[in-house]
Amino acid sequence: MTVTLKDITDREERYTASTYKRFPLLIKRGKGAKCYDENDKEYIDLTSGIGVNVFGFSDEKMIADVTEQLNLLTHTSNLFYTEPQIRAAELITQKANMKKVFFCNSGAEANEAAIKTARKYGHDNFGPEKHEIITLKNSFHGRTMATITATGQEQYHKDFMPFLDGIKYVDASDLQMLKENIGENTVAIMLELIQGEGGVIPIDKSYVKEVEEICKERDILLIIDEVQTGAGRCGAFLCSHIYGLNPDIVTMAKGIGGGLPVGACLFAERTANVLGYGDHGTTFGGSPPVSASVESVLKRLDHKLYEEVKNKGDYIKSFLKQHDETVADVSGLGLMVGFRAKNKSSSEVVKKGIEMGVLALTAKDKVRLLPPLNISIEEIDKGLEILLKACE
Ligand SMILES: Cc1ncc(COP(=O)(O)O)c(C=O)c1O
Repeated sequence: MTVTLKDITDREERYTASTYKRFPLLIKRGKGAKCYDENDKEYIDLTSGIGVNVFGFSDEKMIADVTEQLNLLTHTSNLFYTEPQIRAAELITQKANMKKVFFCNSGAEANEAAIKTARKYGHDNFGPEKHEIITLKNSFHGRTMATITATGQEQYHKDFMPFLDGIKYVDASDLQMLKENIGENTVAIMLELIQGEGGVIPIDKSYVKEVEEICKERDILLIIDEVQTGAGRCGAFLCSHIYGLNPDIVTMAKGIGGGLPVGACLFAERTANVLGYGDHGTTFGGSPPVSASVESVLKRLDHKLYEEVKNKGDYIKSFLKQHDETVADVSGLGLMVGFRAKNKSSSEVVKKGIEMGVLALTAKDKVRLLPPLNISIEEIDKGLEILLKACE
């Protein structure tokens, strides 16, 4: 019997916690930048599962590499050594130009690891008072207690008090406000370079360079959250590389697993040896099959692909800008693009787009596009043409 959308929505409502307001679409299968519903209707995917499937749905190379690993060894635990985790660690630290990595299972967990590391850095070097972390207003760092505290948005805060102590929020790009909030107990500054969930808002490069300078001068850690901007998304392995930064901690997730759940907290010189035995851990982090997916994806992230990402990003932006009768403004870097429709809200555009055969995301009042990095120009054209019609 074929499953219907109605049947699935009824069962979802009955059996799963009501945390997601889903669109009325049942995705049955996908390949590359296309997926299909239960009636085999085709959709162009400009979301890649919120910036995860860097090589699209059901990427053959990743399936082959992970399957090979599954046949060899599935889960062990972090009580033992496994080769795939160490290979993935070598690759990710080399590509990120960092010293060490802690593997976990999501972006929020990567940020939890970063927050814990910053706190321990303060304790070890200055004492427990040095524990304050400054983040930006309108940021998004995850949904765990520590990471919603770090997230500078009221909408995620209500109903969950009390929060972690010692987190302060400042306006993005306001250097004066930042300086006024830095005190002798400030241990870290944490920020996204492009606020993704916040509306695809790039943070000013010269501001971030000044922040880096202040961090160096005052022995404060710079933590860059690259959960959404990393893994080639902006046209480099890390967006930090485009900004010319050398952060003390970088967090990654989403794209590095190409579709399997993984997070990574990367440490530079100053933080490489802060965490010791027993300070942090996770059952699943860096498991063999997930590490095989990281290796499979990361081996294929190279300069040729980054050039393609930049070109396709520029192509999308100029396509949208040419339609200024429908599009109010365009923002973003590489294949992380946001735009505002003139006459419709972002959620109206996304909803209409799905009806018409294209998947896009919202980020506040922007329509957000995070297509697979290997999407073709033909698929981009088709997806954007449908989206523009959805804006009318
Ligand atoms: C910048 C940023 N940090 C952290 C997270 C949280 O990641 P996850 O949903 O994997 O916990 C997200 C998710 O969208 C994100 O965009």
